[in-house]
Amino acid sequence: MSLSPRFIALLLACLISALTLAFLTFVEGVTNNMLFVVGVSSFVISFFLVLYAIELLVFREVNKMYKTIRQLKIRDFTISRKSVIKNNNPFKKLNDEIFVYVAKKQKEIDELKRLEQFRREFLADVSHELKTPIFAAQGFIHTLIDGAIDDEQVRDKFLSKAAKSLDGLDALVKDLVALSQLETGEVKMNFERVDLAHITREIFEQLEKIAHAKRTSLRLKTTYPGPVWVKADPQRIMQVMTNLIENALKYGNENGRVVVSLEEDKKHILVSVRDDGPGIPPEHLSRIFERFYRVEKSRSKDRGGTGLGLAIVKHILNAHKAKVTVMSKIDKGTTFRFKLERME
Ligand SMILES: Nc1ncnc2c1ncn2[C@@H]1O[C@H](COP(=O)(O)OP(=O)(O)O)[C@@H](O)[C@H]1O
Ligand SMILES: [Mg+2]
Repeated sequence: MSLSPRFIALLLACLISALTLAFLTFVEGVTNNMLFVVGVSSFVISFFLVLYAIELLVFREVNKMYKTIRQLKIRDFTISRKSVIKNNNPFKKLNDEIFVYVAKKQKEIDELKRLEQFRREFLADVSHELKTPIFAAQGFIHTLIDGAIDDEQVRDKFLSKAAKSLDGLDALVKDLVALSQLETGEVKMNFERVDLAHITREIFEQLEKIAHAKRTSLRLKTTYPGPVWVKADPQRIMQVMTNLIENALKYGNENGRVVVSLEEDKKHILVSVRDDGPGIPPEHLSRIFERFYRVEKSRSKDRGGTGLGLAIVKHILNAHKAKVTVMSKIDKGTTFRFKLERME
């Protein structure tokens, strides 16, 4: 026979009324009637009291467990470890302990699922991106083999198109390697004292031809003349600046203006790269730092972008504990900003 709450209550009530009666028989002048009344009333009262106490306790705790399970089902994981440790009711502690454990595991599962999804999407994106230039180059070369090679004009045109596709492929693979190294944390940042003004001028020189072809001016603005020292990895920060300035140039208008400004405050150098191009529509702003994200697929493809530039920028700046922000107004232009630690 199982110990049901009623049985326990019955047992305890019998015991209590028996004890009470036993004590009462020692008192002088107690009549049988009195003994009967006391015996029955103590039995009834203690039976209900005990039953009530047991049911209350069991119901309350079981109900709490139900509540916990319900909370876990709807994925409401708002309970802190502190409140668990502070509490000294063992039932509640056990309940909360289970809750915290399950919540932790559920979060881990969610994270793993997210990573798996991310990996799958990444693979699909990469294969798609690789396919395009390979197919293009393949097409041109096969057409040449099939006879187009005899026409000198067509030959040169197709060869240079094939070469362009392969250059795009090369850029893509280089960016992919850089990104995967950054994501796996394979490369350690090499922090040094770096002159941002010097780096910017070097990049301007490298991009001079493109800027000239687009009749776009490249300008550097600094608070004071002379070097602007920051703490950074020289190669990586060069890559960040190149990507941002290249974008400003590539997506800016003809006869445009690209301004890099380096402003000093007490501890930081505020870097901004601004263009007066067509801008980025607000609905795209939050996504442009994602891998392979392009605002207008065809437009950017024409200009030979890999779609990885800004993802790399974000990663490198993260490793510098810096956050990159973007502000853009349609037909007014776009500004990318970030802060680096100053170094004297
Ligand atoms: N200065 C800018 N002005 C307008 N659009 C921009 C600018 N910079 C980036 N973008 C948009 O963000 C997208 C992502 O940039 P990025 O990651 O560098 O890839 P991409 O290889 O295409 O340059 C670009 O395709 C472009 O559509
Ligand atoms: Mg780019």
